[in-house]
Amino acid sequence: MSALLEVRNLNTAFPAAHGAAFAANGVSFDVEEGATKGIVGESGSGKSITLRSVLGIVPEPGRVIEGQVLWRGRDLLTLPPRELRAIRGREISMIFQDPTSSLNPVFTIGEQIAETLRVKLGMGGREARARSVELLDHVGIPAAKERLRSYPHELSGGMRQRVMIAIAISCRPKLLLADEPTTALDVTIQDQILALLAELQDEFGMAMVLVSHDLGIVAQNCDSVTVMYAGHVIEDAPTAELFRSPSHPYTVGLLRALPSTREPGTRRRLAQITGQPPDLTQLPEGCPFRPRCAWSRDACKDVTMELVPAGPLHGTACPFFEELR
Ligand SMILES: Nc1ncnc2c1ncn2[C@@H]1O[C@H](COP(=O)(O)OP(=O)(O)O)[C@@H](O)[C@H]1O
Ligand SMILES: [Mg+2]
Repeated sequence: MSALLEVRNLNTAFPAAHGAAFAANGVSFDVEEGATKGIVGESGSGKSITLRSVLGIVPEPGRVIEGQVLWRGRDLLTLPPRELRAIRGREISMIFQDPTSSLNPVFTIGEQIAETLRVKLGMGGREARARSVELLDHVGIPAAKERLRSYPHELSGGMRQRVMIAIAISCRPKLLLADEPTTALDVTIQDQILALLAELQDEFGMAMVLVSHDLGIVAQNCDSVTVMYAGHVIEDAPTAELFRSPSHPYTVGLLRALPSTREPGTRRRLAQITGQPPDLTQLPEGCPFRPRCAWSRDACKDVTMELVPAGPLHGTACPFFEELR
């Protein structure tokens, strides 16, 4: 049985003064039907560019150089633009970190939802209006009918993200790509939004890719986790397995940096691993984590970054992982 989405050896690069910066460097992962896949990594590790590559919306001058994005067996990267547009928004939707920048400030909420319904589902004015009320209601926006006349700035951050979710689910997609959907929100609102996403998934049987720099959020919400570093997948495992036996030094560092309890009213702190995230245009030979790794040795120069098996459904890019245990 093949997965709903299979990303294979994705390479997406931005031109740089000397050569290119590979934001995605041989990225592979699967998303199973109805499941939640987490992608975690520090800022700049290539999470957003990976998601954008899936939908064919990499910002210029970035370009997908190589790889496959198999959506129910069809490669989205080779699909004619018209067919890709039909899948985008209808079968696969995306929500972004900052709902403010994804909503247009000069149009009302109602106008923006109706526009999506018109373009994607061919609905006319009255039908679209009725459906918009249903959608806002569905994502927990009170007084939905009145809200249609609001402008984005009249809503709180959490409410704006709910509107984005309403737009994203309006066509009942099979897959939702959620790029740090709660990073801009207060912690109590974060939980509400994550709970809403989980409810909608259950209800529609929708799969989700949840991208976050916060391993805690991913752990609580995902069936499996892909860990990225400097454009590479460095580890991939079912969530419980990853926590039980982390098998890459970077993942071990992320886990150590995770607060064991979460104080109410505080934001989870970013994982702190000593050293700087690497410059993608000047990656060291072999493992890109080498300069920051406490277990690094000469042989790390020759590491290929292919995943090696570390357990059931568990892969790591560190061939020396057994010594971590
Ligand atoms: N618009 C852009 N122009 C040039 N380089 C970019 C652009 N967007 C991303 N990159 C490069 O891709 C890398 C990964 O970016 P991104 O996927 O946004 O990281 P993440 O989402 O993990 O924080 C960045 O570190 C940067 O080198
Ligand atoms: Mg990002």
